[in-house]
Amino acid sequence: KSVQVHAPATVANLVCGFDVLGMALHRPDDVMTLTLKEEPGITIEHTDIYQLPTEPEKNVAGAALLAMLEELDHPPGFHLVTDKRIKPGSGLGSSAASSAGAVVAANELLGKPFSNEDLVRFAMNGEKVASGVKHADNIAPAIYGGITLIRSIFPLDIVQLSGPPLFVTVVHPQIEVRTADARQILRKEVQLKSAIKQWGNIAGLVAGLLKQDYALIGRSLEDVIIEPVRSILIPGFDDVKSQSREAGALGGGISGSGPSIFMLSEKESTANAVEQLMQDVYTKLGIDFKTYVTSIS
Ligand code: HSE
Repeated sequence: KSVQVHAPATVANLVCGFDVLGMALHRPDDVMTLTLKEEPGITIEHTDIYQLPTEPEKNVAGAALLAMLEELDHPPGFHLVTDKRIKPGSGLGSSAASSAGAVVAANELLGKPFSNEDLVRFAMNGEKVASGVKHADNIAPAIYGGITLIRSIFPLDIVQLSGPPLFVTVVHPQIEVRTADARQILRKEVQLKSAIKQWGNIAGLVAGLLKQDYALIGRSLEDVIIEPVRSILIPGFDDVKSQSREAGALGGGISGSGPSIFMLSEKESTANAVEQLMQDVYTKLGIDFKTYVTSIS
């Protein structure tokens, strides 16, 4: 018995919501095929170019599946074939797509014994392998779809948010930013006045989504804590951000821990104009890049 799933790319943080907000995209996605085996154990095969580890404990999807198997009385075996199209280290939730896709596929094969919340819990073990920290802001939207708020991870409390139609433009400059490094450079203390701004923005963003108020969404897409530190690692960031706003985008910022940058737009024509200016910025800088115009999945 086999099942094939498409695991979506995700944008974590949504600018001001560090570790608590995330959204799933229509593309890019990973294609994963999971087959149930009689004999126990997990085997992993990759059909892509990334040469990721195939030992289950070192592989993010393997770690997620192992966590799931621990909770089964009669654990079966799985064979996983992954065609990764979300480049690892892109800031587009590549590790989350693998972990989430694997447990969603396994749950399907087993007749759905687990809830979505259980699946997030298992998949967070994959994130731990990838970046050393269990965070759910890529995993939750990959599993639930749309935009999710992680009110808490211990215990898990996930809220799916509705919102108005939004177009998403993404540029992935082909430079490497490791999530573990991008977390390491963050300050551990936050000034109260910055915290006040930040939680005002998070609340404003959530309210703007629920009220379908594009202007409020735009005003709230501001991060005064994480972005000033991390954006230094991304050449072209300030130009992309300011030019996108001038072109009519609502706003945006670093996707996850970078180096990808995303911008939200109300209209598709704006999202396309943003893609063009992103291409111009990175062509001028002489840095290879990939761009996507997509929407929330
Ligand atoms: N919230 C995480 C971070 C996402 O920004 O470090 C990493 O993909």
